[in-house]
Amino acid sequence: MDTAARHALIERLPKAELHLHIEGSLEPEMLFVLAARNGVNIPFKSADEVRAAYRFSNLQDFLDIYYQGMSVLLTGQDFYDLTIAYLERAHADNVRHVEIFVDPQGHTARGVPFATVIGGIARALDEGQARLGITHRLIMCFLRHLSEEEAEATLDDALPYLDRIDGVGLDSSELGHPPSKFARVFERARELGLHLTAHAGEEGPPAYVHEAIHELHVERIDHGNRALEDPALVHHLARDQMTLTVCPLSNLRLCVIGRMDDSPVRAMLEHGLKVTVNSDDPAYFGGYVNDNFRAVADALDLSTEEIVQLCENSFTGAFLSEAEKARHLAEVRAAAGAT
Ligand code: ADE
Ligand code: ZN
Repeated sequence: MDTAARHALIERLPKAELHLHIEGSLEPEMLFVLAARNGVNIPFKSADEVRAAYRFSNLQDFLDIYYQGMSVLLTGQDFYDLTIAYLERAHADNVRHVEIFVDPQGHTARGVPFATVIGGIARALDEGQARLGITHRLIMCFLRHLSEEEAEATLDDALPYLDRIDGVGLDSSELGHPPSKFARVFERARELGLHLTAHAGEEGPPAYVHEAIHELHVERIDHGNRALEDPALVHHLARDQMTLTVCPLSNLRLCVIGRMDDSPVRAMLEHGLKVTVNSDDPAYFGGYVNDNFRAVADALDLSTEEIVQLCENSFTGAFLSEAEKARHLAEVRAAAGAT
């Protein structure tokens, strides 16, 4: 397939995005607007200067700047503006359903009330559904560099808002913070009926993926790159059709891979794993979901069938009902057949 035809296919296919940190969609231009509106000092003079600072050698390099960027988010209107801007951008990429991560501890630690964060995001999600036709789930992540007691307190904070929060996840600095550290809080989240997912195998070893499955009982693995190092784990992931939310441009920018050709997407497809393509933190990594599709599909010379499979996986791996999945899958197939 030539490049133009491949890109046209990517653009026309409906898709879901399952791995998107809403704070990671804060574009430098909005960073300046919110900093001025809220009287927050930021150590940059222009959006170009901010972008030039986005050079990372590993996950921690990025996280340091990501937590700094969040400091401009203070009011419900800020969280609304951030979220609606992401939804407009996702709409342009033919995204029909989003499952958004939020890091409440990144905000409550700065004195921003939990209700302000969830309220602003939820208002934008409702508008996105009504005006853009994008359905949503909201997943709050526990910061794994903090203690399990702090995660428990965050779950307590969430109790009044469980009508707006659909699941819990686990993110931030992976190495040295294995999933097992959060077994009890994930167990309580499961008892509350929340969906479960966790970042694992981005920088951490295959054992962390194993722990996320067997000790946290997650329904999805976020990233999962390093699972490929363990054949028994690959067999398990294939047999159980566990969804993996891979983020190609993130992997490149965080030096998880050296070149886009090294993306795990091809090997995962070949092993029959349920891999999806996502943007992670698009404002920091140079692209939204279709940019990620184009980059990985071009580098790996993905076929029509493989690109369609990735879009189908994004719906089958979503926290949607079987009827909703079937409706989206029919639309993917209709778009795939259209020329
Ligand atoms: N927080 C935001 N993006 C992340 C990533 N890719 N890995 C871990 N924590 C994150
Ligand atoms: Zn992530």
